[in-house]
Amino acid sequence: MLSKEKTIEQLENNIRVCQKCRLCKTATKAVPGEGNINSKIVFIGEAPGEMEDKTGRPFVGRAGQLLEKSLEKIGYKRENVWIGNIIKHRPPQNRDPLPDEIAACEGFLAMQLEAISPLLIVTLGRFSMNYFYPEGKISRDRGRVIRSGPYNVYPVYHPAAALRNPGMMKDFLSDFVGIPAVLKKLESSNTVTSNIPDVTEHDDGQLGLGL
Ligand code: URA
Repeated sequence: MLSKEKTIEQLENNIRVCQKCRLCKTATKAVPGEGNINSKIVFIGEAPGEMEDKTGRPFVGRAGQLLEKSLEKIGYKRENVWIGNIIKHRPPQNRDPLPDEIAACEGFLAMQLEAISPLLIVTLGRFSMNYFYPEGKISRDRGRVIRSGPYNVYPVYHPAAALRNPGMMKDFLSDFVGIPAVLKKLESSNTVTSNIPDVTEHDDGQLGLGL
């Protein structure tokens, strides 16, 4: 069996040469994801934008600057967590990814997460949340923990949406500030009380974790 490092490296190499969908024809560089593969927490976005496409690195544009600042605010460093996307090649003009593009790419993230085995997955935006929880609604489900298969998923708004909308920025920041407590709770219990069918509404004062 390959080591975790080798598995991730091999997946990254496969992502860089992937031609499973049309996006590889228009993209410059694939963006496999980066960071600490031993992190208990990972951040999953939607798809590379212009800067990510140029550099091959996730979240290095304006949305990435907000993500980095928000990480610093809660005492985390970018290099200590793992950051990835559901789609590995940039959609032209940053359009929404199409269902067949998401389907073509989904195995890569599934295998990356299986290797990393994080305790908490923070999804950035609705596409990322819907990857784990297809019936989810970001305005309803943000800021609480949802159990998806073996994973604990904590949806927050996408930083790019927060930059466009002051109301979303407020919610993005307050959800982000809740991350360390959610992680601490998961570390101490290693289980969650909520499950998809009976998650509590986030705005009733509960985070679905009894926090
Ligand atoms: N937006 C995303 O969803 N991912 C990135 O990597 C950059 C911007």
